[in-house]
Amino acid sequence: MILKPMVRNNICINCHPLGCAAVVRKEIAYTKNALSAERPAVAPRLVLIIGCSTGYGLASRIAAAFGYGAATVGISFEKAATPSKPGTPGYYNNLTFDSEAAKAGLPALTLDGDAFSNKMKEQTVEALKDITALYNDTAAKNGAAKLTPQVDLVIYSLASPVRTDPRDGVMYRSVIKPIGRRYSGKTIDMMTGRIITLGAEPATEEEIAHTVKVMGGEDWELWIDALDKAGVLSAQARTLAYTYIGPELSWAIYKNGTIGKAKEDLERAGKALNKKFAASPETAGRRAWVSVNKGLVTRASAVIPIIPFYISCLFKVMKTKGIHEGCIEQITRLYRDRLYAGEAALDPAKVPTDSEGRIRIDDWEMREDVQQETLTLMNNVTEENVLSVTDIEGFKHDFLEAHGFDVPGIDYGADIDPEKIG
Ligand SMILES: NC(=O)c1ccc[n+]([C@@H]2O[C@H](COP(=O)([O-])OP(=O)(O)OC[C@H]3O[C@@H](n4cnc5c(N)ncnc54)[C@H](O)[C@@H]3O)[C@@H](O)[C@H]2O)c1
Repeated sequence: MILKPMVRNNICINCHPLGCAAVVRKEIAYTKNALSAERPAVAPRLVLIIGCSTGYGLASRIAAAFGYGAATVGISFEKAATPSKPGTPGYYNNLTFDSEAAKAGLPALTLDGDAFSNKMKEQTVEALKDITALYNDTAAKNGAAKLTPQVDLVIYSLASPVRTDPRDGVMYRSVIKPIGRRYSGKTIDMMTGRIITLGAEPATEEEIAHTVKVMGGEDWELWIDALDKAGVLSAQARTLAYTYIGPELSWAIYKNGTIGKAKEDLERAGKALNKKFAASPETAGRRAWVSVNKGLVTRASAVIPIIPFYISCLFKVMKTKGIHEGCIEQITRLYRDRLYAGEAALDPAKVPTDSEGRIRIDDWEMREDVQQETLTLMNNVTEENVLSVTDIEGFKHDFLEAHGFDVPGIDYGADIDPEKIG
């Protein structure tokens, strides 16, 4: 089959297996080069990534495995390919990760299913035991130190529209809406360059509560509890969940909207976890953080009003200043300069944070000069100059690349088997 991107209203409904695979390999090469030269005093050896197949979760897995040599268990919810239909991008990313990890001798297990369910939490505990056995088989042959089935790092990187609470079986749905009053913001149709105004009605109380249920911190806490109860969480375990704050002009729809309420709950959960850890000498070495990451092009962010417009201008400014980053650059910097930087690798209290205890790798995005220049640019964009003054082309490229399209070196005219990554 020949696959060309099918995009409408900033949503792409297909993807290209070979392009997805090439992007994963590119991220592997980047992080190998950037991280493996200077190992931290203590690097994570067994890492669990919840939401491992795309975006920040995939980068977190790649950096832990190929940067630090960690064994990884990844969980995601993806659609497999059939002989007549391609799978989802995350499906191909996982296949590529698994195959590259196997080639590099890095133990890796990928589980597909609903991370919110009790069943997936139980399967993960078993997978952690299995992967440890796998690791130790190789370690015995190489005379290397053995691993215990205890996770050193848990990355919580889910982005989901729905969640079924395993305790009551009720399905909750998240929405991206403002709170209190209607929001209207510009966005760019990346395929045509057209500037459109998108509106969103204010959320109901129920919609706010449901979004918190899906994207808040409850499930993160359930995961840590489940791992702890099963005895598979190390005494020094670190856990991270990701959030976004962004510029004030997006707050009505993001930070002060439904999703922001959910992210507030994520921060509540981080604090609750730390309180629990500190309560006993056996768990006092564990630590949870929320990391504030940079705004990037993902399948989800492309449909939020104002975000494509803002990101197209932000990227232009950051690229001009030579400080632009994608997911893998962000996570590499998160590990190298924050989570495992110098003494922080040994002592979690030394991990650099803001006054709220959050890790900030959105620091370059939020720099005053960057924000000011981005705002000025946004005010000067018209439909006539949008292609030349913004980085809409970069936005479009990143979006297509997240679906395996517009990747250099891939022959998009070639007939391919959707079940193979080459
Ligand atoms: N994209 C951004 O600009 C940005 C910026 C800062 C923070 N963040 C945050 O980072 C986190 C990850 O976002 P992303 O943009 O990388 O998302 P993404 O859509 O690329 O990845 C989401 C992952 O969650 C998995 N997933 C979704 N529902 C699942 C389920 N029920 N069970 C198992 N797996 C499931 C998907 O398979 C995928 O692996 C989110 O918390 C997001 O808010 C994103």
